[in-house]
Amino acid sequence: MINYTLKQLYSFESVVRLQSFTKASKELYITQPAVYMQIKQLSQNIGSDLINTQGKTVTATFIGKRLYQSCIEIISMLEQTQSDIEQILDPESGHLQIAVATTTNSFVSRALAKFKKENPKMSFHLEVTNRQLLLEKLKHNNLDLVIMGEPPTDMNLKMQPFMENPLIVIAHPESPLLKNKKNTIKDLINETLITREKGSGTRMTIEKVTGMQFNSDVEINSNEAIIEAVQAGLGIGFVSKHTVKLELQTGVIKQLNTQHFPVTRYWYVVHNEKNKLSPIAERFKNFIINKSFFL
Ligand code: PGA
Repeated sequence: MINYTLKQLYSFESVVRLQSFTKASKELYITQPAVYMQIKQLSQNIGSDLINTQGKTVTATFIGKRLYQSCIEIISMLEQTQSDIEQILDPESGHLQIAVATTTNSFVSRALAKFKKENPKMSFHLEVTNRQLLLEKLKHNNLDLVIMGEPPTDMNLKMQPFMENPLIVIAHPESPLLKNKKNTIKDLINETLITREKGSGTRMTIEKVTGMQFNSDVEINSNEAIIEAVQAGLGIGFVSKHTVKLELQTGVIKQLNTQHFPVTRYWYVVHNEKNKLSPIAERFKNFIINKSFFL
């Protein structure tokens, strides 16, 4: 095994890049003989010359060129690691890897915008997907935090509920069903029922609570598109009230009074039990739990 030291690799990289022992010694804040010594020892450890010293310019030998490539990668990896550690240690910076249920879209972007304003040095990657894919991501454990509807209890997760999520039935303002004081599930059966895709937590909950099995021809994997479809008169939709606030206010969509509804579900902030959260993830978790994005 070749015994490299980091000091030797840094010296070698600097000499080859700057093509000068003098410039390298200035860059590394060590004397020129000390740089020579590092490279001599490195050459001895490897058992080959690494630098051509004949002529005016300093160039790498064939083996030196190969080693130089690795030096660039090693040094860049170490620098990246150092910056990662600095970010983790500085609670106002750091990187947040977060995934959220499609339906949380109505408040998560607002929450992240406010949190980023308060923590301008932080960066984040946000993934928006349905419940089933969120569970897969939690299984692979490559996320800091997940925001989702009721998490399963058999997965060693740490979970904290923070907000209600009322699921409602929506209809076009001219739907005859709006005349009924309360619709039964049977009343809906002859309508075109527009549901979320299989794997959606919204769909799973509605099927569980009402006993309905959606065998509809119309499945849409976006709440916004379901709302558009209802507005266009395609049929009856099932969504979280959070996703349709504006349309209900303006009256382009109506909430249908229906047996079992609103179904009350909760939003949770979740992570794997064994994960120690980074300072920025801990801050974001508290920000969500305290609903600071509403303030
Ligand atoms: P979604 O919602 O998967 O339907 O987007 C998440 C949930 O309520 O679990």
